[in-house]
Amino acid sequence: MPDRILDSLAHPVVLSPMAGGSGTPELCAAVSEAGGLGFLAAGYKTAEAVAAEIERVRAATDRPFGVNLFVPGDPADPDVVEAYAAELAPEAERYGVELPDVPLDDDDDWDAKLDLLLRSPVPVVSFTFGCPDLNLVDRFHDVGTTVVVTVTDPGEAVAAVVAGADALSVQGPEAGGHRGSFVPRKPYGRSEPGLLDLLAAVRAAVRTPLIAAGGIGDAAAALAAREAGAAAVQFGTAFLLTPESGASAVHRAALRDPRFTSTTVTTAFSGRPARGLTNRFILDHPDAPVGYPAVHHLTTPIRRAAVAQGDPGGVNLWAGTAWRLAEERPAADVVREIGRALA
Ligand SMILES: Cc1cc2nc3c(=O)[nH]c(=O)nc-3n(C[C@H](O)[C@H](O)[C@H](O)COP(=O)(O)O)c2cc1C
Repeated sequence: MPDRILDSLAHPVVLSPMAGGSGTPELCAAVSEAGGLGFLAAGYKTAEAVAAEIERVRAATDRPFGVNLFVPGDPADPDVVEAYAAELAPEAERYGVELPDVPLDDDDDWDAKLDLLLRSPVPVVSFTFGCPDLNLVDRFHDVGTTVVVTVTDPGEAVAAVVAGADALSVQGPEAGGHRGSFVPRKPYGRSEPGLLDLLAAVRAAVRTPLIAAGGIGDAAAALAAREAGAAAVQFGTAFLLTPESGASAVHRAALRDPRFTSTTVTTAFSGRPARGLTNRFILDHPDAPVGYPAVHHLTTPIRRAAVAQGDPGGVNLWAGTAWRLAEERPAADVVREIGRALA
């Protein structure tokens, strides 16, 4: 089946799945309806909630779309989580919330979501934070689903191809939100190759169609990604200000606020490296541990309270390096503008 779905798109433009509220069925449907490939984020949701979102997309469009799953990883170290909880006590006090007891090995309803997607198949399923095994990929192929795996280096790309992936979402370090690397401890920093170098390295390692993701904010960047070997380009941050996005008012305002002048990769909010606008919480917790998803659950009340209080200092403001190019306009306009440039 390789890239049958990618080939069928009027525009080779892919919506990033965006867990945590920014991705919505309306945004997914708008991108697919405009000729791109919309995605639903299943992360942090129950299987029932995902099923309901799939129904909403199906009611809005007949075009192909995808659902993204977080592959469960190793449980967090309880000592590490406890130490970070102690560090966060003043934050809890500041926002008037209690820090919860957190599960150390939450699997994000993995089995129930697989069951749902195998019983009631969707055109595309993508995996992030790990690689599905060959057997699982085969089961998706048997029900006619195209399988995409997020990769962040050539080694992960080869593993995903060996497992049978039909396409790879190649995520550069410029990307907004979480790094999709198979292991959360993969080092990050200044010495990493950028997206274009990464695409060239992955292109040299595998022949599978590549979807380029990370810091692509305009047609020029999309063209450069295609020149470097991508069959399609994926955008997350560029859709955050569209009316169809579910980004909070605090997140939207921060993306447009000139006082935010950079992005930072941090583990402070979730215990996994992720890129967001540099804010107070990131700066105050520079040595936050790796401990996903326990840290995600630990910070949830703080983040919720910060949003409720309209305080951009205490919530994750995920954004890629090209955030300044994001505009307030319908999602279909983004798809068509990029699509036309790539035609
Ligand atoms: C708000 C937000 C939420 C995200 N959530 C997910 C997710 O649930 N699953 C996933 O695979 N990637 C997620 N990502 C990462 C994207 O898949 C993609 O790599 C990224 O958006 C590309 O960089 P860009 O935001 O600069 O376009 C998220 C990104 C953002 C900005």
